[in-house]
Amino acid sequence: MSSPQNLFSLTGRTALVTGGAGPLGSVLADALAAQGADVIISDISEQACQEVAAGLHDRHGVAARGISSNLLEPDGTLKLVEAIDGPLDILVNNAAFTGTSGVPGYAVPFEEQTDEAFELASSLNLRAPFSLARQLAPKLAASAGASIINVSSIYGIVAPNMGLYEGTRMGNPAAYGATKGGIVQLTRYLSTVLAPRIRVNAFAPGGIARGQDSAFTERYEKLTPLGRMATEDDFRGVVAWLASDASRYVTGQTIAVDGGWSAW
Ligand SMILES: NC(=O)c1ccc[n+]([C@@H]2O[C@H](COP(=O)([O-])OP(=O)(O)OC[C@H]3O[C@@H](n4cnc5c(N)ncnc54)[C@H](O)[C@@H]3O)[C@@H](O)[C@H]2O)c1
Repeated sequence: MSSPQNLFSLTGRTALVTGGAGPLGSVLADALAAQGADVIISDISEQACQEVAAGLHDRHGVAARGISSNLLEPDGTLKLVEAIDGPLDILVNNAAFTGTSGVPGYAVPFEEQTDEAFELASSLNLRAPFSLARQLAPKLAASAGASIINVSSIYGIVAPNMGLYEGTRMGNPAAYGATKGGIVQLTRYLSTVLAPRIRVNAFAPGGIARGQDSAFTERYEKLTPLGRMATEDDFRGVVAWLASDASRYVTGQTIAVDGGWSAW
């Protein structure tokens, strides 16, 4: 247990971040390393995993390693779990197909969306977090400060306003919201079955500014009380809080971090 002065310290803990070489995952990993956590970066590309891990070690002096694994392969989660030889305290389920992933039949108009794309998104966005939580639970339960953090989305909480996308090439697939809503419920489920040894929470990011169509961005910002889209850095605080003893009496919750998007 951390001292009251040091509630956010993650020194002595090890975190696994899936999709950890991606734009949000790498920042979440950096936020955990900044609090002293050793970090395991997992993603598809071996080289990207190693590069992100090396950067964490250089910037924060923590132990960091990469374990590449394709979570869509039948033995993808098992391969990752078996490669983790030491203790584990924190699991961040971040890897997912987002609304911009180029999967055929996914981020296209509703009538063109396919069962195959829906199944693929379900497998990465929902089955993989379930499978990792199930397989890693015994290891996590041995930790005195175990925390699972699932990355949901505002579209796991509210439906998309399709008017935002009018005149753009952007889409918002049914499978995205369905799987991100599913992870909210999976979070509640896991929080009860894994209590009291492991806390399980999620956070729901609002849209991250990544050079989207300006018409979309303008409409999006008007509907955001804080008046702007998110940056990856906006999620440093929530992941550090949920991973640490600062949130030690919080479990089963999904924290919206969306500039107020879901408040009205
Ligand atoms: N970008 C946003 O605006 C936004 C908004 C709300 C929530 N989110 C959520 O944040 C998380 C990260 O989003 P992002 O925008 O950084 O996503 P991204 O697609 O840019 O990155 C996801 C990472 O997951 C990895 N990945 C993809 N398929 C994989 C597989 N089969 N096995 C292992 N790893 C795989 C990718 O290589 C990539 O590094 C996701 O869960 C997403 O749903 C994002």
